[in-house]
Amino acid sequence: MSVSLHQTKPAQGCDMAEVALPVAGSRKAVFIKTWGCQMNEYDSAKMAETLEASEMVLVDRADAADAVVFNTCSVREKAQEKLFDELGRHRTWKAGRAGRLLAVGGCVASQEGEAILRRAPFVDVVFGPQTMHRLPALLRRAWRGQAGPTVDLYAEDLEKFEHWTDVSQDRTKMGSSAAAALVSIMEGCSKSCSFCIVPYTRGEEVSRPLQSVVDEVRRLVAQGAAEITLLGQNVNSYRGVLPDGGVASFPLLLHHVAALPGILRMRFTTSHPLSFSDELIDTFAQLPQLAQHVHLPVQSGSDRMLQAMGRGHSVATYRDRLTRLRQVRPGISISSDFIVGYPGETEADFLDTLSLVDEMQIDQGFSFLYSPRPGTPAATLEDPVPLVEKKRRLWRLQDRLRYHGARFQEKLVGTADVVLLERVDEDHPDWLMGHTSSNRMIRIPAHRTLLGQWVRVIVVAYHQGLLMGELVHAPVARAV
Ligand code: SAM
Ligand code: F3S
Repeated sequence: MSVSLHQTKPAQGCDMAEVALPVAGSRKAVFIKTWGCQMNEYDSAKMAETLEASEMVLVDRADAADAVVFNTCSVREKAQEKLFDELGRHRTWKAGRAGRLLAVGGCVASQEGEAILRRAPFVDVVFGPQTMHRLPALLRRAWRGQAGPTVDLYAEDLEKFEHWTDVSQDRTKMGSSAAAALVSIMEGCSKSCSFCIVPYTRGEEVSRPLQSVVDEVRRLVAQGAAEITLLGQNVNSYRGVLPDGGVASFPLLLHHVAALPGILRMRFTTSHPLSFSDELIDTFAQLPQLAQHVHLPVQSGSDRMLQAMGRGHSVATYRDRLTRLRQVRPGISISSDFIVGYPGETEADFLDTLSLVDEMQIDQGFSFLYSPRPGTPAATLEDPVPLVEKKRRLWRLQDRLRYHGARFQEKLVGTADVVLLERVDEDHPDWLMGHTSSNRMIRIPAHRTLLGQWVRVIVVAYHQGLLMGELVHAPVARAV
């Protein structure tokens, strides 16, 4: 399956990924198409496990499927239109054989609900981010003809995770190795950024109990995972119930995960500057397993814009968090999210964003043109900035981020790292590819038999945009 755990594309992007695989026998076959962020990838992987545990098989294309499931994302762009285009295309597919089903899940489903059935009455099942674990039952019922089209959007806060704890975990693996895995630690978001649809589609923040997360990680490690990425819209707001009834902070959760034998590397995404606490920064000094990379979205370098966006923090706070983090972790890679062309953004506001990127040397960035999301406060604002100007700003920002990215990678030359060899370079079959601790793709001449292994490397060059490494023949300690 193509649940990619190390992505160089936007962490919260809206590209299509396809959960694929096995061969269908007499069991019902399901094809899942996934848009969006790592949380959606995680959800799709878990849905796939749940379907397999219910005697269904996953296939990699609609032709071979009895049901096509869309796991949608509505953070940016014309998500609704994209979905209805897809549904339109699959209408003929559905008509091609009796018994074929179409299901729509995820954030667009949560937002549109019944409206999906009104516009596309040939859809059989609509389910939301909280009811994904019910998909097998919903599909079975539809196949038995026991129900007409069903809309099922609501569940108790943690019902999904409670159910998913029981299914086997090997769908969150990457390629042929189970060496890196995603684990969702919370759902929803209780911040109220004026532009963002997430609080409406995924609901209020709710954290999984600490033990439930630790148990899931322990099982993944037993299956071979050594790198864990903890997921949430705002992981540093994590408040998980402890077995004694107390409440665990995010740093405490990190300590528990790091204490599991076999964990080589931990990542997390996404963080919010407001809750990026001193305690969390100190954790970077205490836990060497934490990767040399933090994704900390800022959206804008202008206080005026941050206030308009309802972000709840100033540029000074953001600067202060990064400065403190770099004191405990010199050379750490910082990536960020930026929104360009928010209503009323002036050239001066935009120049403040460029200055912040320069000053803080933000070396990776995911920058987006502001996209009005129906139902959000910002969607009602007037927006005098012409699109052509917004695009020009986006291009200038991306250029600046590329510049700092290149300087950052030049500085990696000569450093040592531990890298998971994830895949073969398509252009150079003698090279294997992986990610540095700082989340940069690196290519290493190595034999294919090392695929899926953790190896020691020295970064030897950064040339024409490619980071190159060499193997160091020393074992990577991994007490399991
Ligand atoms: N939880 C994260 C945070 O603390 O900022 C962000 C989650 S959001 C799903 C991912 C990114 O999408 C945001 O950081 C923002 O840059 C971008 N985004 C969200 N809504 C957007 C919109 N309406 N237009 C453009 N970009 C948007
Ligand atoms: Fe969205 Fe802001 Fe939450 S960007 S996910 S409302 S922190």
